[in-house]
Amino acid sequence: MKRALISDIHANLEALKAVLADIRNQGVSDVYCLGDVIGYGPNPCECLDEVIKLCPVTILGNHDQAALFDPDGFNPVALQAVYWTREQLEAANGTPAQINKRWDFLGELPRTHQEGDFLFVHGSAREPTNEYVFPEDVYNQRKMEALFSRVDKYCFQGHTHIPGVFTMDREFLTPEDLGGQYRLGDERVMINVGSVGQPRDNDSRACYAIIEDNTLTYRRVEYNVDTTAEKIYDIPDLDNMLGDRLRSGR
Ligand SMILES: [Fe+2]
Repeated sequence: MKRALISDIHANLEALKAVLADIRNQGVSDVYCLGDVIGYGPNPCECLDEVIKLCPVTILGNHDQAALFDPDGFNPVALQAVYWTREQLEAANGTPAQINKRWDFLGELPRTHQEGDFLFVHGSAREPTNEYVFPEDVYNQRKMEALFSRVDKYCFQGHTHIPGVFTMDREFLTPEDLGGQYRLGDERVMINVGSVGQPRDNDSRACYAIIEDNTLTYRRVEYNVDTTAEKIYDIPDLDNMLGDRLRSGR
């Protein structure tokens, strides 16, 4: 079974479409989404529709949750984007049935999904929706031990928008360190699949991962960043910084 893992689309339709086109060329059987379909970007409804259509498994992200409930822990720029996103979901783009379908989908998203050795979360195995696991956390022995104590084998996550593999030896291996591929073995690992719509590892290309027979492959896909950035600049409620950061991949 060849499965694509996408995460943190953040309402970036150009990045999502480019990734889906790449996925189609890889002969993938299933696409799983690890959350944050919406938030920050200009096309929340369209991105939701794609994910609803395509992904048999989608995990609840903190930005997806923020559209449903009172947002907690968001900075002013992110918060303003949450409120704008809600307005789009409530009012724009579609028939009442389509609008309801999107809300129902968001309201029913699970916080975790386990399939054999594979655990899927948005943030971490400990706090599936909200906890960040950053590369520098490898220096925090207590945190790493606490996280790994909740991982039976392989935990796939997103949320930081920084792709890479956390090992039990408290190493963080970037896709570059790995030559783009990692072979899952006996050791437990936490794997961040990166972000489709707002990468933060200084590479503006959309990021996702493919898993097949215990081999993980990171993929980077070019898309028209300028188109997405311009859409953001045209929406007063989305801070220009959200467009700028797509260009720099930060
Ligand atoms: Fe995110």
